Amino acid sequence: MARNKYDIDETLETPFNFAHFKRALVYVKKYRARIILALTLSAVSAVVSLLAPLITKEAIDTAIPNGDVWYIVILSVLFLLTIVVSVILGNIRQRIMTKAGQMMIYDIRKDLFAHLQDLPFQYYDDRPQGKILVRVVNYVNNVSDMLTNGIINFILEIFNIIFITIFMFALDARLALVIFAGVPVFVAVMIFLKNKQRRAWQQVSNKNSNQTAYLAESINCIRVTQSFARETENLGIFRRLSTAYRKAWMKAVTVNNFVGFSVDNIRAVVDSGLYFIGLLVIGYPAVSLGTIMSMSNYSSRFWQPIINIASLYNNFINTLAYLERIFETMDEPVTVKDSKDAYELPDIKGEVTFKNVTFAYEEGKNILENVSFTVKPGESVALVGPTGAGKTTIVNLISRFYNINDGAVLIDGHDISRVTLNSLRRQMGIMLQDSFIFSGSIENNIRYGKLDASMEEIRAAAKTVCADDFIMGLEKGYQTEMYEGGSQLSGGQKQLVSFARTLISDPKILILDEATSSIDAKTEKELQKGLNELLKGRTSFIIAHRLSTIKNCDKIMYINNKGITEAGTHDELMAKKGDYYKLYTAQSK
Ligand SMILES: Nc1ncnc2c1ncn2[C@@H]1O[C@H](COP(=O)(O)OP(=O)(O)O)[C@@H](O)[C@H]1O
Ligand SMILES: [Mg+2]
Repeated sequence: MARNKYDIDETLETPFNFAHFKRALVYVKKYRARIILALTLSAVSAVVSLLAPLITKEAIDTAIPNGDVWYIVILSVLFLLTIVVSVILGNIRQRIMTKAGQMMIYDIRKDLFAHLQDLPFQYYDDRPQGKILVRVVNYVNNVSDMLTNGIINFILEIFNIIFITIFMFALDARLALVIFAGVPVFVAVMIFLKNKQRRAWQQVSNKNSNQTAYLAESINCIRVTQSFARETENLGIFRRLSTAYRKAWMKAVTVNNFVGFSVDNIRAVVDSGLYFIGLLVIGYPAVSLGTIMSMSNYSSRFWQPIINIASLYNNFINTLAYLERIFETMDEPVTVKDSKDAYELPDIKGEVTFKNVTFAYEEGKNILENVSFTVKPGESVALVGPTGAGKTTIVNLISRFYNINDGAVLIDGHDISRVTLNSLRRQMGIMLQDSFIFSGSIENNIRYGKLDASMEEIRAAAKTVCADDFIMGLEKGYQTEMYEGGSQLSGGQKQLVSFARTLISDPKILILDEATSSIDAKTEKELQKGLNELLKGRTSFIIAHRLSTIKNCDKIMYINNKGITEAGTHDELMAKKGDYYKLYTAQSK
């Protein structure tokens, strides 16, 4: 079976790279005060809760044997207090950290999103959307959890171990040593499991990412899936990806459980040792019953932080891998960007010149070679030619969606690579074959082209492009809410709405890339009047399959073999009896 993008695991196998961690601390630093506060609260709560076994010991060794009821009551109240105080402090800490974590998530996501918005078309061309989503959603969650709770818990557990050790040795050094005898065994187990555990969790996130990528693609193209009746096959693919995910998960859990299993066993052995040595070797009354009981209590408290640190360590390693993916996205070069000395493109008249332009999407595979032409302000130019010849490519280059490899694209004599993208694109109106409708009202969909447009302007624009009739026919007219992608509109209606959107932005250069392909011939004829209105005073590039649409353009360029093979008016090209003539006669038959 062919390997798809969603089948390819991301590389998460990274060496221990602290550079990423250090860089991540930039996000942490903002919340330093909160983290220190949380840490302090936690430390207090940890110490308070460690007093509980001492209180138990006092009750068993002194209060109960003496039958001192008041002392027992006081000890009970103290015992209760240790629990209440540590629970309350723990809660406050949780709230502080949850808030810090959420703000950190926001910070990282905002930076990621801002960068994703700047990334050029090229970045999106060869990447599954799902994998980008996973980074922005899942990875950021994991990372921020590690950066907040993870760090705190790590420090805290170290504290815990130190405190408990001190308490244990203060209580009875001999018994404390018995408990410590279990540590080397635990370390040996952890070393044995270290890489297994890390790899296992990395596999989990890989498989999750693959599944999400496939899911995103499937949802996007559900209509194609259903029309080709491919549901069964797709379910098969999904099942395969899901199974891989489940297996990875099960494996990781098994490895994880093994840690708990080992610790339980070590603890059981150590505890028996504790009772054996305490009761039989050292013996009562050299060691009191209360001491042994609280020792056993400390022992169980001693192992928990050790298990936690081991698992935090693993999370930490995974987090570094996530951080790397996140930073990789943030570092993805914005290849199409304002040059250092970029200047604002002044209000243009609309002259477009290609000077020996050579362009390739992928290195070594030129789509255009040495293309030169000039379009005067206000002229309309039609691009025709076989599918895949490079018509869309040419118009994409005018808006600088891609950088050219050689030559220059000039607008009113300004090299577009030297002006700011914003000032360039603001003066362009681009309409694509699949016109995108955002969720929201029709009114706002049109307003997208000019944010301060009044309702009158919106309606006028819609009228010009013959969209008013059908919009008024909708239940709520201009206020009708669109579903995502405008799925309740026909393809042609969507194109009319996006026509109005483009018209209202009043561009000097207009690009219509098969923008009328879904509009029926009758509406198109009507639209033609509006279109002529629209084209007036603007330079326009029109790509249309129906040649009747472009017959009246000032100039027609036939694109083929990486360049322009024929150019002229309709009549001139017809007289020439070349490729255009063949295409036209074939269509009019
Ligand atoms: N994003 C892309 N990445 C790589 N190759 C592309 C990309 N877009 C288009 N191409 C290739 O460039 C050529 C021209 O495409 P295009 O300009 O879309 O043709 P058309 O004349 O049909 O509009 C085609 O061979 C196509 O395969
Ligand atoms: Mg095209």
